[in-house]
Amino acid sequence: MADDTRKLCRLDDIPDGEGKSLEIEQDGEVVDVFVVRQGDAVHGYHNICPHLGTPLTWVDDEFMTFDRKYILCAMHGAEFRIGDGHCTAGPCQGDNLDPFPVELDDGWVLQKP
Ligand code: FES
Repeated sequence: MADDTRKLCRLDDIPDGEGKSLEIEQDGEVVDVFVVRQGDAVHGYHNICPHLGTPLTWVDDEFMTFDRKYILCAMHGAEFRIGDGHCTAGPCQGDNLDPFPVELDDGWVLQKP
């Protein structure tokens, strides 16, 4: 059974190919993170663009390019690989999103310990 203290959301709460905005508490502070679903896999990142250090999106859950192949920063159009957060296009090309490790257990997306 999934560890309640690490539960973020249900996998079914995230449409396949989309992202989901989440707020977590870390060291007494609220931190914005997001997870992207690809089938039965999820990838998590902090919601901070390496270009200017701002959130990637102005609208909750809107993290993807139109073709759903990349994570998009809405500010200046940087594109990041879903699997490892590496920036492949845009003003911070070569930089990486800060990972937020997640895992799946019994249909739950969990924060990795
Ligand atoms: S702040 Fe993300 S591309 Fe500029």
